[in-house]
Amino acid sequence: IIRQRIQDFFSTPPEGQKVEVLGWVRSVRESKQVAFLHLSDGSTTAPLQVVVDKTREELASCLETLRTGASVRVVGTLRPSPGTKQPVEIHAEALTVLGPAPEDYPLQKKRHSFEFLREIAHLRPRTNTIGAVMRVRNTLAWEIHRFFQERGFLYVHTPIITTGDAEGAGALFRVTTLPPDAPYDPTEDFFGAPAFLTVSGQLEAEAYALAFVNVYTFGPTFRAENSHTPRHLAEFWMVEPEMAFCDLEGDMHLAEEFITHLLEAVLERHPEEMAFFEQWIAPGLTDQLEAVVNTPFTHMTYTEVIEHLKKAPASFTFPPEWGMDLQTEHERYLTEELVKGPVIVTDYPKEIKAFYMKQNPDGRTVRAMDVLVPRLGEIIGGSQREDDYERLLARMQELGMRIEAYQWYLDLRRYGGAPHAGFGLGFDRLVQYVTGMQNIRDVIPFPRTPGNAAF
Ligand code: 4AD
Ligand code: MG
Repeated sequence: IIRQRIQDFFSTPPEGQKVEVLGWVRSVRESKQVAFLHLSDGSTTAPLQVVVDKTREELASCLETLRTGASVRVVGTLRPSPGTKQPVEIHAEALTVLGPAPEDYPLQKKRHSFEFLREIAHLRPRTNTIGAVMRVRNTLAWEIHRFFQERGFLYVHTPIITTGDAEGAGALFRVTTLPPDAPYDPTEDFFGAPAFLTVSGQLEAEAYALAFVNVYTFGPTFRAENSHTPRHLAEFWMVEPEMAFCDLEGDMHLAEEFITHLLEAVLERHPEEMAFFEQWIAPGLTDQLEAVVNTPFTHMTYTEVIEHLKKAPASFTFPPEWGMDLQTEHERYLTEELVKGPVIVTDYPKEIKAFYMKQNPDGRTVRAMDVLVPRLGEIIGGSQREDDYERLLARMQELGMRIEAYQWYLDLRRYGGAPHAGFGLGFDRLVQYVTGMQNIRDVIPFPRTPGNAAF
């Protein structure tokens, strides 16, 4: 791959090694005697320049069908490039067009808008930005597994199809073999009960934590919330650790260690991508992430947050009131102006949080914690879980939940229950945070959002 070729060139002199390179043509620039091709293969943002001697008949004839977008095979020798745009160039001795591209190839050598690129989601992985984002995404996924595996957590594959609503938020996609508008008929329903795409693997992860102590799940989750925002997807990936014999303090400690580890890993392993984001996407990004790694997170209760917001010089569209859900403007004020870094907010009013959270003795708040970060707001949501059977049952009844669908979940409190806690990190939001990308649709290969599941 190109990245390796460039590294080899600098690590194993002398120059003039003969190599084969395969990739896609980014641009073609021609003069009378020579043509310059820029090649990419997704391994690096640094282009590899191919120098083609047009006086050589067999090379010149190849150029006739060679346009931006074509896939090619080049055999030649590597030399340091006199140009400033690339470190290395390859002087072609043989050139083969493996897959030509027509003149109307949609990705030409210019800056395309992200909106346009979303319309060609099958080709946008060939761009520098999506290339850099996906390499970082790959590393983050790998580091998530490494983090938990090194700490002895068991990776659990929680189901995608479920019959409950783990968050009690009602934003579910129904799974059915019937026409979408058919009325519910239990005799025809494949699962014998209404089934949905999961919104979270948490409830099933709890069953495994109460057997294996420390577990995590990492997979796709689905929410039918009709949110047209730069940070919501209908299909997104979530990482959810769950720990038995653990309380909210342990949970927050793990969350902070986790984020710190992931940022450190990317800063260390992706200097080239970070320099690219810094230049083209988010100036100041590296310093910002380094500060997060080096500074302990700020902690605040929800009640303290409301007090701060009430005293804030900023004027809000939604005036802060105890009991309300924090709005984007509040989260931004908190993380970008008041604290200038991540904030862990705890002890939210029970009315705005899920049914399973452990109730505080005050009767009105729960042992919840959200991690808020600058630019994005909520990146993690977690809690200590209610482990008291009677209190959980009472809360579920209060909320009018279908108890029979959750009896197994309640049973976990009857059969050797234990204090336990966990959280969910929005993986795509994490990628967005680390890369500085503005829209979550541009950090996932094929975004699913209201009105769009086509690509
Ligand atoms: O806060 P949420 O809803 O928490 C849960 O689902 C818990 N069951 C997690 C747990 O305790 N195991 O979602 C967790 C995170 C959010 O903080 C956010 O980062 C992300 O998931 N998230 C979304 N990301 C993209 N698009 C959406 N529509 C999202 N909804 C939530
Ligand atoms: Mg949440």
